[in-house]
Amino acid sequence: MTVSVLFVCLGNICRSPTAHAVFEKVVSDAHLSDKIIVDSAGTGDWHIGEPPDHRASSVASRRGYPLDHLRARQVVTADFDKFDYILAMDNENLRNLQLMAPLGFSGHLGLFLAFDKGQQLEEVPDPYYGGPNGFDDVMDSIEKASSALLSHIQSSYGLP
Ligand code: 4NP
Repeated sequence: MTVSVLFVCLGNICRSPTAHAVFEKVVSDAHLSDKIIVDSAGTGDWHIGEPPDHRASSVASRRGYPLDHLRARQVVTADFDKFDYILAMDNENLRNLQLMAPLGFSGHLGLFLAFDKGQQLEEVPDPYYGGPNGFDDVMDSIEKASSALLSHIQSSYGLP
């Protein structure tokens, strides 16, 4: 049995690749890489094939999560067949995913930060047009929510 998680933002070059790399590390540290599959995608098509934004990459590598191997892709309808969890960074991403979701989709579609009950924010703010501190704030939110998501999956699926 495997559990699959898709992180989604707008461009798939800042927030969702960061979540992808952080959650993959959290899963690997828990020795669950063979049980939990992680991916990321964007609702938009502007950056397909591009590596993550250099600001996201530099914050992530400084904090121990290399991102440079990732390439942006757009969400496709087939993702709703493949993933148990489709987690949006903000409400606009979530609305666009809800419009795409096939009627029979039985997985979990929701906001990523909702798993972290202690989180002040509901959404991971889009850092693209903001200052450099925005990327550290994104990382802080994503690190906390990643631990909370792993705990949720471990208890829901009886994983160690
Ligand atoms: P992301 O950030 O959704 O976190 O990858 C953005 C990347 C690109 C754009 C907006 C947000 N853009 O407008 O191109």
